[in-house]
Amino acid sequence: MPSEADSLEWRAMFPATSACVHLDLANKAPMPIAAYDACRAYLDDIHRSIGDKDRWKEKTESVRAKIATLLDARADEIAFTRNTSEGLNILAQALQAQLGDNVVVYEGEHPNNLYPWINLRRRGIECRVIARKAGPVAAEDYAMLIDARTRAVAMSLVSYNTGQRLPVEAVAARCREVGSMMIVDAVQAVGVLDVRPGMLGIDALACGSQKGLLAGYGCGFLYCRGERLDRFTPAYAARASLGVPPLQDGMIRFAATAARFEIGNPNYMAMYALDATLGLILQAGAARIEAAVHRRGDRVRARLAAAGWPVVSPIGPMERSGIILIDAPEAERVVASLKQQRIIASAVDGKLRLASHLYNDDADIEALIEALSRHRRAAS
Ligand SMILES: Cc1ncc(COP(=O)(O)O)c(C=O)c1O
Repeated sequence: MPSEADSLEWRAMFPATSACVHLDLANKAPMPIAAYDACRAYLDDIHRSIGDKDRWKEKTESVRAKIATLLDARADEIAFTRNTSEGLNILAQALQAQLGDNVVVYEGEHPNNLYPWINLRRRGIECRVIARKAGPVAAEDYAMLIDARTRAVAMSLVSYNTGQRLPVEAVAARCREVGSMMIVDAVQAVGVLDVRPGMLGIDALACGSQKGLLAGYGCGFLYCRGERLDRFTPAYAARASLGVPPLQDGMIRFAATAARFEIGNPNYMAMYALDATLGLILQAGAARIEAAVHRRGDRVRARLAAAGWPVVSPIGPMERSGIILIDAPEAERVVASLKQQRIIASAVDGKLRLASHLYNDDADIEALIEALSRHRRAAS
């Protein structure tokens, strides 16, 4: 079980923790010293000697291997993208769907995981949207719209605006029955929860570097299960995405690996940041981070309840995540007031959203409770 000692060690690695109480991982993460140093070394290298591209490529392959380890996947199942949205769009456009086929998505998804699928309507593919619900989304809500012509179901592993861990495994089982792809936006989960796409029945997954991966903006990746690669035909072709030989009968032959989704050089500086942060994440262990986040979450919820702040995100073991939502009147104003007190959180759909990582400690929670009380006193 992770302890306060873990937090102490991690706090020392994140200078932002002495400037503020950071409870906004669901938005973006602070950057550890190791990632900052790695980016600086990369820039110094270019600045002084124009850099060594072979070394950057080695770094990229190191990151690919580390992501594969984190996900319990294979390196050739990982492709680099710019961000989560690009990964989802690449997958949506690569889907072998035709007139009369359909895709299924929930209305309450993040816009970046809703519009790529609605966009398929332009190609005559039906996009079936599950109407927004007040409570948690259930596997049955998806099952009602999935049929033999469903080519993909797109869902988040963790919802950015409800904090619900969605029933991906159950929906994936239904997808398998009808031959549909299960495509997951995992940016609110990777690096926070122990995400193993193979075990969850996920066919493809997209993620960005700015949240649980702790590496800032500028890079993303997608995972595609090896056996599913030939079910996706990329919309773009570049040298990186081609097989050997690259052409057959004058037509493009895509790589047999997830590299088929890659378009040109990646953001090499982000690779330096990611290599450093993935090192920290793997050293701590995904399961250990998940346990720490839940332990912290339990404590946050207990302290909020005692202080009279209603938590509305799920608490059940199957549905909880690292995101805690509070029904706080005028959440935007609460966020501004917390910020003045150097506590960083965000407001989403009128709720106050908190998300922690190993660099948070119990003192952060007490500071939050105190700041919320101060805000309440000032507002009344
Ligand atoms: C569920 C979800 N998907 C996607 C994104 C962001 O997408 P991108 O990485 O493309 O900026 C966010 C948050 O910023 C999110 O919460």
